[in-house]
Amino acid sequence: MDSRIIVSLDFATAAAAAGLVRQLGAEATFYKVGLQLLTAAGPSVVRELVAGGKRVFLDLKLLEIPSSVAAAVTAAGQVGASMVTVHASGGSAVLRSAVEAARRFPELKVLALTVITSMDDEDLREVGVGSTVAEQVLRLARLAAAAGCNGVVASPREARLLREMLPPGMVIVTPGIQLAGDSEKSDHARFTTAAQAIDAGATHVVVGRPIARAPNPADAFAAMRAQLSALR
Ligand code: C5P
Repeated sequence: MDSRIIVSLDFATAAAAAGLVRQLGAEATFYKVGLQLLTAAGPSVVRELVAGGKRVFLDLKLLEIPSSVAAAVTAAGQVGASMVTVHASGGSAVLRSAVEAARRFPELKVLALTVITSMDDEDLREVGVGSTVAEQVLRLARLAAAAGCNGVVASPREARLLREMLPPGMVIVTPGIQLAGDSEKSDHARFTTAAQAIDAGATHVVVGRPIARAPNPADAFAAMRAQLSALR
């Protein structure tokens, strides 16, 4: 088992998600539920994964006023999520209210989303941010650490800098992962292999299409796991 790989359940129905979970079997223990599946299928998807012994990264990407963020984090804790995401760009008050709400749930980690991996420097400029992606990621990660968050979400490209900068216990989750040898360009402006991301300092990787759309998802998962165990 390797809980460093979080498999993203980006599906339109609970049945499709359950199909992938079944295919991957006991070896895959950590799943991401995002806005699509949560909206389509409801929170029972999370409860069922947790009841089946899986851990759930509930990717709510919260950006709201502090009291609403706190209420949503509480709801995430109540359905049994292990990780929940909040946009760091919401600022310290939002991050602190998320951390405060999560205290009731010892298993629940609050992760601050820095800059989504599809954005580049030009996209940041468009929304009024003059910094580069790397500068912005580091700025927001510092804010998240100071607010007491358990970790951050960033692209693998920033993982090494983040590892050097953040306190040792902090979680670094990176999406933007491709299978080794897969040169096909996805919509990630910043991507790498799982092994490169972990080697650079990520504690977990989020992987969706490279596993879900592989001819044999269980084989793709096993190959990725083998690459990670070779790192140890
Ligand atoms: O690309 P892949 O299917 O592996 O994406 C898995 C997850 O990574 C998505 O559910 C999404 O939340 C996240 N992602 C991201 N930035 C992108 C593409 C995907 O953060 N550009």
